[in-house]
Amino acid sequence: MKTILITGGTSGIGAGLAQHYLANGDQVIIVSRSKGALPNAIYLQADLSLAAENYRIAELISTTYGKIDGLILCAVDQAYRQKPLMTTEGLEVTFALQYLSRYILSHQIILNSTGFMLNIATPGMNGAVNFDDLQRLKKFSSLRANINGNRLNDLLGAAFVNTGIKYILYNPMSVRTAGARSVFANPLMRLFLKFWHRVNGRDVATVVQNIGTVLRRTSANQFIAYKTLSPVKLSRNTFDPDKAKKLERATERLLATISA
Ligand SMILES: NC(=O)c1ccc[n+]([C@@H]2O[C@H](COP(=O)([O-])OP(=O)(O)OC[C@H]3O[C@@H](n4cnc5c(N)ncnc54)[C@H](OP(=O)(O)O)[C@@H]3O)[C@@H](O)[C@H]2O)c1
Repeated sequence: MKTILITGGTSGIGAGLAQHYLANGDQVIIVSRSKGALPNAIYLQADLSLAAENYRIAELISTTYGKIDGLILCAVDQAYRQKPLMTTEGLEVTFALQYLSRYILSHQIILNSTGFMLNIATPGMNGAVNFDDLQRLKKFSSLRANINGNRLNDLLGAAFVNTGIKYILYNPMSVRTAGARSVFANPLMRLFLKFWHRVNGRDVATVVQNIGTVLRRTSANQFIAYKTLSPVKLSRNTFDPDKAKKLERATERLLATISA
């Protein structure tokens, strides 16, 4: 029996993956703000947009469950926002949840030697991180913040090259989830998105199946990125190793100011 930790496992892709591992007879721990209803799942409630909560969860996992077999990062808040929403720690929510939480958990959770980290984001898309505006506060929109969060995750993943950890960045492309439908406020755009998802979107079951295939294909101790079932070239600018190191340093400085 494996122990799998899933953030954002109460909805969408995370919930689909939780059901998959539970059906396999694995132990599944789900972290999100609400408590879900999957029988046999272990629910830990936390607001992962707060750094302190991520450290609390990592500590709890380590003392209660020890090393785990899989960390799956799905927690996201895609809701439309015109203005930045700041956490009580003074950080923009999208940045804090979509990037900083994943940074902390990727570095604090300890895996068994055959374990994996699966960060569900959007590798393989274009864009660049602006180191002068890491939280993407200038000309803010929740959509831009979301794209920025994904580029930050590209660099987070890239920093796991040659670390001996099986780290997979996975882009499911359009998936029919409640969260994905909340990115626009405009009713016409929402209608368009509904139509788009019907034509081009995947259902969660297909995504779970694709992720299973990718996990089986990926050897131990490897950093890799996938867009559905196709590998993403690691030579892309979005995985620049120097920028990955630079981001790691900037993130550590930021975390030091929060805990000070
Ligand atoms: N759906 C797509 O089309 C698509 C496309 C590309 C990439 N992705 C990526 O795939 C992943 C999953 O997306 P999804 O659409 O399946 O997500 P979703 O349906 O929106 O579910 C989001 C999950 O995150 C949790 N969450 C939200 N805020 C939280 C917080 N502050 N603290 C802890 N947990 C929180 C939610 O639970 P609570 O509300 O209970 O906290 C929920 O379980 C994301 O990383 C997303 O970026 C999705």
